Amino acid sequence: MFAGQTVIITGASSGLGRQLARDLASCGARCVLHGRQEAELEETATICKEVGGETLTVIGDVTQPEDCGALVEAAVNKFGRVDIYLSNAGLSMWAPFEEVKDLNIFRRLMEVNYLGAVHGMHHALPYLKKSRGQFAAIASIQSRMGVPSHTGYVASKHALEGFCEALRYDLEGTGINVLTVHPHWIRGTRLRTNACSADGSLVGDARRSHTSESISAEECSLAVLEALRRRDRELVVPAKLRLVPWLKLFWPSLLRRKVRGKISGQGDTE
Ligand SMILES: NC(=O)c1ccc[n+]([C@@H]2O[C@H](COP(=O)([O-])OP(=O)(O)OC[C@H]3O[C@@H](n4cnc5c(N)ncnc54)[C@H](OP(=O)(O)O)[C@@H]3O)[C@@H](O)[C@H]2O)c1
Repeated sequence: MFAGQTVIITGASSGLGRQLARDLASCGARCVLHGRQEAELEETATICKEVGGETLTVIGDVTQPEDCGALVEAAVNKFGRVDIYLSNAGLSMWAPFEEVKDLNIFRRLMEVNYLGAVHGMHHALPYLKKSRGQFAAIASIQSRMGVPSHTGYVASKHALEGFCEALRYDLEGTGINVLTVHPHWIRGTRLRTNACSADGSLVGDARRSHTSESISAEECSLAVLEALRRRDRELVVPAKLRLVPWLKLFWPSLLRRKVRGKISGQGDTE
């Protein structure tokens, strides 16, 4: 299905974005790779070329609307169309609210995780209408539940989910599919080391490693490709986490206990 399609992937310089680019390229998609770090983006481009994919790298910051405009324009100039806009760029945090010293963390998280997606979608919309394409937002299971020390991240992902839900109504009849992806913890990405700590600096390697419950970027990426093939509206990986809203409704104390246990007992977080 992806052969010959033009797919824009933000946050393609590492982690899940890089894996998505590789997997889409191996299916014949033309991948437009976006991020701020040129060397890392070029590495992703090399990986895509090794599996036979055609790529274009565009350097930019999703928090800047004009950068997102330039991204879409570059994609259309090179490949003539946009079939899928994959909004994947993201930023996390690790700090109990009371300890936060730099309130800019909250603005930054909203700018990257929520507004970054809005900017991209706004510019891609006319082209997605033409191709009857898809907008896919990599949200998180944290767009449906709270997690300790993640107030700003959780809020930004809730905002992203709300945007997508409302957008679906606005796009009815256009032929565009809106997919929201809600992954559990993903191993092997830079999200945790690049997360904001209480004073706004990077968390670095201070956090402990992921538990066996986390998923690999490969597993998550393959699930996203399947959901895109089916033009699904929602994907939760792993599927058992679809129970989260039900637990929240019917057994909130159990959900809170489980979340607390995971965070304080094993140190796992995004
Ligand atoms: N890791 C997890 O446990 C987990 C779980 C659920 C959901 N997610 C979501 O999955 C997505 C991918 O994250 P990841 O885990 O793969 O983390 P990652 O390895 O840190 O990747 C994040 C990507 O976002 C890009 N980015 C960050 N700020 C940007 C900005 N202002 N402008 C443009 N690009 C920006 C980074 O590229 P540059 O530095 O080159 O700009 C990087 O390529 C995120 O939306 C994250 O919230 C992750």
